[in-house]
Amino acid sequence: MMEAALQMLDVETHCFTDPEEGLEFIFEHPPQIVLTDLVMPGLSGMELLERVVEFDPAIDVVLTTAYYSTESAVEAIRKGAADYLDKPFPPHVLRTRLEPLLARHRARLNALDLERSLADHASFAGLIGNSPPMWHLYAHIQRIAPHYRTLLITGATGTGKELIAKALHQLGPVSSGPFVPLNCSAIVETLFESELFGHVKGAFTGAFQDKAGMFEHAHNGTLLLDEIGDMPISTQAKLLRALQNQEIQRLGSLQSRKVNVRVIAATHHDLRAMIAEKTFRQDLFYRLSMIELKAPPLVDRDADLQLLTRHFIARFATQFNKTIHGLTYRAQLLLRQHDWPGNVRELENVIGHACIMVMGTMIDVTDLPDYLRHSDPVPAAPLASPEASTLDEQERRLLNDALAQTGGNQSGAARLLRISRDTLRYRMKKHKLTV
Ligand SMILES: Nc1ncnc2c1ncn2[C@@H]1O[C@H](COP(=O)(O)OP(=O)(O)OP(=O)(O)O)[C@@H](O)[C@H]1O
Ligand SMILES: [Mg+2]
Repeated sequence: MMEAALQMLDVETHCFTDPEEGLEFIFEHPPQIVLTDLVMPGLSGMELLERVVEFDPAIDVVLTTAYYSTESAVEAIRKGAADYLDKPFPPHVLRTRLEPLLARHRARLNALDLERSLADHASFAGLIGNSPPMWHLYAHIQRIAPHYRTLLITGATGTGKELIAKALHQLGPVSSGPFVPLNCSAIVETLFESELFGHVKGAFTGAFQDKAGMFEHAHNGTLLLDEIGDMPISTQAKLLRALQNQEIQRLGSLQSRKVNVRVIAATHHDLRAMIAEKTFRQDLFYRLSMIELKAPPLVDRDADLQLLTRHFIARFATQFNKTIHGLTYRAQLLLRQHDWPGNVRELENVIGHACIMVMGTMIDVTDLPDYLRHSDPVPAAPLASPEASTLDEQERRLLNDALAQTGGNQSGAARLLRISRDTLRYRMKKHKLTV
């Protein structure tokens, strides 16, 4: 009877009289809506509801029963049912109750399409992002790429420094040449110079034959010196000379070789502090940092969180051969509340984890790593103190309290006060507050 009633809605229906069979079908072909009786042999409608919601919170479950009671209706809604119908009902009631659910599914699919096309447009030379800090970065890259010879990229871990270096290479005049990344933190100190400049046979024990270094490999291209802060100070002097003269000598050889190499250095260290500690050469720093690009942290890029999430979901879904439409609202909230100290790399890991865990088509909070769910709950908003009399004083005190409670963490304080970080910064400036 219900199947007949639904024909007018132009939906595909699959009917089952055995709840276990129905559930099996649901797991294999997740539908938009599950319409189920409450009292059934074997599996009750309430149990079916629980299993379906756990499997995929995006599926709407509608319960129907001839034994209507307010308690069971409340229980069903609490467990995540989309609707609860009292039997018997005429066919048109069923249709009017299902229509809004179907419309919501269509709207969500449209929104996903829209997001997807947005994501397509919000990238620049392999970098994804459509936020003011990223626009700024794109503009800089575009302006600098044709001209620089040496350049420094700074930014916290996981902010995309390597991708920025690749973008610079790709948009510069040597894009047809090699892009050679060298991770300075992964090289044994004694082999550093040989790695950079090469060596000739017999230059040191174990140098069995002539070998070209990374500078020569990067000839007519770009050399990325990643984690430059980990380069030994003795090597730094030789690097500076190579940059100044655009020539190198293989270890153990007196012959100079001209190299045409653009050098990009990247680091998450504070090189200025390292100069003060005498672990980084000031002259090399000035040589490198004539142009400095800063990779913005993810917490400053609210708009990008969603774009990057979508990008990673698409990538992992393909990799794991799953259909994943996105995140439930609750899961999105959880991501937005996190501070992302590991930046884009951390987000990538979190989404990778979730894509492995997810059973249905929507990622829910339980699919996200535990540490996100168990991070400190947001403390209660501070109350303005009664001594502060004027509005200005109240505001100042609120800001101070919030910053004190979060140990000076601006995004935490903004969250506490339920204002945006920009607003917080604006108000801090107004009150001349610093942290
Ligand atoms: N804007 C972005 N768009 C797309 N992917 C990004 C972006 N930024 C970073 N990623 C991804 O995040 C991961 C980390 O990026 P990357 O290795 O460039 O960071 P990094 O700044 O060099 O980090 P570290 O200092 O830890 O070496 C990579 O998988 C990269 O593809
Ligand atoms: Mg890196």
